[in-house]
Amino acid sequence: MNEFDFCSPGEQCSLLLGRKIGELLEEGDILALWGELAAGKTLLTRGIARGLGVPPEERVTSPTFTIINEYSGRLTLFHLDLYRLSGADELETLPWQESLFGNGVAVIEWPGRLGRLLPDKRWDIEFSITGEESRTMLLRPHGSRNLLRMSKWLEELGALKSQSACMTEETTASDK
Ligand SMILES: Nc1ncnc2c1ncn2[C@@H]1O[C@H](COP(=O)(O)OP(=O)(O)O)[C@@H](O)[C@H]1O
Ligand SMILES: [Mg+2]
Repeated sequence: MNEFDFCSPGEQCSLLLGRKIGELLEEGDILALWGELAAGKTLLTRGIARGLGVPPEERVTSPTFTIINEYSGRLTLFHLDLYRLSGADELETLPWQESLFGNGVAVIEWPGRLGRLLPDKRWDIEFSITGEESRTMLLRPHGSRNLLRMSKWLEELGALKSQSACMTEETTASDK
C-alpha cells in the first residue's frame, strides 16, 4: 500500500500528525499540500515545524504576503504559500529554488501555482474538509526514494490511527 490516509477529528490530531511527519523528514524533502482554504495546511505545517525541532516560541503562520518563511530546527524549514503568487515573474524574484533544492525541507501550500516547476520527487498531501472539526489527509510518496521510505512512514504514522494517540498528546498553548 503506497498511501496513508488519516481522519483527523480535531486540531490536536492534525498537529500530532504534522509533528510525526516532521520527525520523519530528511534533508531535501518537499511536501506539497493540496486543499482548499481552511483545509488545515498551515496547521499541519505548524506540527511539522515542531517535529523538526523549531522552538515552540517561533510562531508558524501562513506566509501569505512574504510567500516564503524560514525556520531553524534540526533541518531548516522553508514554508511557502503560493496562494497570492501573481505569476512566473514574481516567482523569479523569490529564492524559491534555494528553498526547494537547498539543504532544508520545503512545505508548499498551493503547489499547483508552480505548474511544471513542481518537482516530481516529493510527498503529496491532499486535504479534505469533512466537518467543522474534522479533516482527512491523504499522503502519497513520489519518486523512487520516497516510495522506498514509505513502509517506515506507514509504520510510524499508522500508530497515530487510534484516536487515543491524539488525545494523550500534550499540546501547549504556543502550538495553537
Ligand atoms: N481537524 C482539524 N485539522 C486542522 N484544522 C482544523 C481542524 N478542525 C478545525 N480546524 C480549523 O480549520 C482551520 C485550518 O486553517 P489553516 O490551517 O490556516 O488552513 P489552510 O492553511 O489550509 O488555509 C483552522 O481555523 C483550524 O482551527
Ligand atoms: Mg494556509
